[in-house]
Amino acid sequence: MTPPAQIVILDAGGQYCHLEARKVRELGVYAEVRACETRAAELTSAKGIIISGGPASVLEPGAPTVDSAIFASGVPVLGICYGQQLMAHLLGGKVLPGERGEYGLAILELDECRDPLFEGMGGRQQIWMSHRDSVGVLPPGFSVTGRTETCAVAAIAAPERKLYGVQFHPEVVHTARGREYLANFVFRVCGCVPDWDPSHRVPMLEEEIRQCAGSRGVFFFVSGGVDSTVAFTLAQRALGTGHVRGVYVDTGLMRQGETDFVRQMPGVAVEHAAEQFLTALAGITDPEQKRHAIGEEFVRVQERIIEARHLLDEQWILGQGTIYPDTIESGGTAKAAVIKTHHNRVAGIQKLIESGRILEPLKSLYKDEVREVGRVLDLPAELLDRHPFPGPGLAIRCLCSEFDAPVRRSEDGWIIPVNSVGVQGDSRSYAPVLAIDELDYARATALINRLRAVNRVVAPVMTHTPIETMQVRACSLTAERLERLRRADAVVRRLSHESGYDHKIWQFPVILIPLGTPSAPDSLVLRPVDSVDGMTAQSVPMDPALLQRMCSELSEMEGIAGVFYDLTHKPPGTIEWE
Ligand code: XMP
Repeated sequence: MTPPAQIVILDAGGQYCHLEARKVRELGVYAEVRACETRAAELTSAKGIIISGGPASVLEPGAPTVDSAIFASGVPVLGICYGQQLMAHLLGGKVLPGERGEYGLAILELDECRDPLFEGMGGRQQIWMSHRDSVGVLPPGFSVTGRTETCAVAAIAAPERKLYGVQFHPEVVHTARGREYLANFVFRVCGCVPDWDPSHRVPMLEEEIRQCAGSRGVFFFVSGGVDSTVAFTLAQRALGTGHVRGVYVDTGLMRQGETDFVRQMPGVAVEHAAEQFLTALAGITDPEQKRHAIGEEFVRVQERIIEARHLLDEQWILGQGTIYPDTIESGGTAKAAVIKTHHNRVAGIQKLIESGRILEPLKSLYKDEVREVGRVLDLPAELLDRHPFPGPGLAIRCLCSEFDAPVRRSEDGWIIPVNSVGVQGDSRSYAPVLAIDELDYARATALINRLRAVNRVVAPVMTHTPIETMQVRACSLTAERLERLRRADAVVRRLSHESGYDHKIWQFPVILIPLGTPSAPDSLVLRPVDSVDGMTAQSVPMDPALLQRMCSELSEMEGIAGVFYDLTHKPPGTIEWE
């Protein structure tokens, strides 16, 4: 059993709420995310409450709110960013709309205070801000404890009521003393005691699996990713290999070596379906249709397997590698929900879920915690430390085009007429790509902010012919193009691993675009990014010697006209190109 949460994070809609829970857990204290409107009566067993940040404004009708009874319940509350504003707003203060906002690094001037949150922390220090509105008038009984040049109310306190607020984000690494603020709140203000170490939980997780499965066997669709492999291995340890089965669907869209890696897991069978997927994808050029076709095909294959193996019989339950941020109740993002839909749509799986025949042993853990469990299970580091890889696989990294189209010269560079996705607010839009002539981040960022018609900027690193002589050609997904991308991806992975570069970044997609010449019809784009959770990301530079080595090996490959580097941050670009 997971312990009752000592700290509850009320999710006000921010991408940071899971980061806040993770950071509290890293202090050894179990924390959970709950919906922000959770009633105060349901929170009395918590030792402390954090109201998270969020993108809304408390001044807008319908903005997320909390049950104001929490402020009088005696449970300490820390409001972070939007959480501070909401606390001030609900307790009789005033929030003012911001003209410009304040995003990024700032210097906090914190007073020397005697309360348990801020004591010993006074002075100038680096913090991370991300807000537009701010608190203009304090609620009665509060005092300001810190300010920045542009924000007069950056930290507030009403210590005798154990209510605190900070406009900055203590959970992000850029806030120099962020961990200390959280530790002060958790231990000094709330009096929590350490109760959480995921690596010690393996025996309990195994016991939960035994209780859930009873005498029944557990069946997994394994993907070769961290979550499903850890869940599968845990179930085998709990129940014995004979009671746990897995099937890996070889879609033909996976990376080099993936199927071989999974094949050597005991109890896992490989279902070969590459031709079926390629046939379904033939002729499709639209990115969303591609995803849809893959999802549909996956459903067909899963249904076939469920039937052939009689998995709806009473003696089977379905195991899944769901982790905490994927669960909708925990404030899982809309995107996580969408990504999971294609699995949930399978009628057979739906039936198993509805009848409660589902085992999700990792559903209270974060990814880093799943990795820790994996280490206790002696799973190889290459598996546990691997970068995230999208479910639809290489298909969404192999761009297609409906038309032949030339590269166009513009006053800022060249317009490459492929459709690449970007994200502004919550909506995804497709637009062509701008190529500039050098790896210049400042210029790329300025251009992308200025130009509405593109949401991505790349620079050529090495091309066999001048870019203006290349053209985009009509094509869809073929076995040949997928193999070209698979080999390029393997080269990039090998060189990033050998050089240790893969440890410095969060993910490294390699994209194949149909830009080239008749003899070398495709080009490659390198997209190394740094990120915390994939919601925002920074394009990161690479050591020039490594880049040179990578590009010379890639440009030697058959069919490759050039290698480009993606200079776009997210937003406005996305990590993937489709
Ligand atoms: P974007 O491209 O939206 O990606 O910035 C954010 C993270 O999500 C992954 N991603 C996917 N994962 N199915 C998945 O399982 C998908 O369709 C999908 N699309 C994007 C992406 O690799 C990155 O880690």
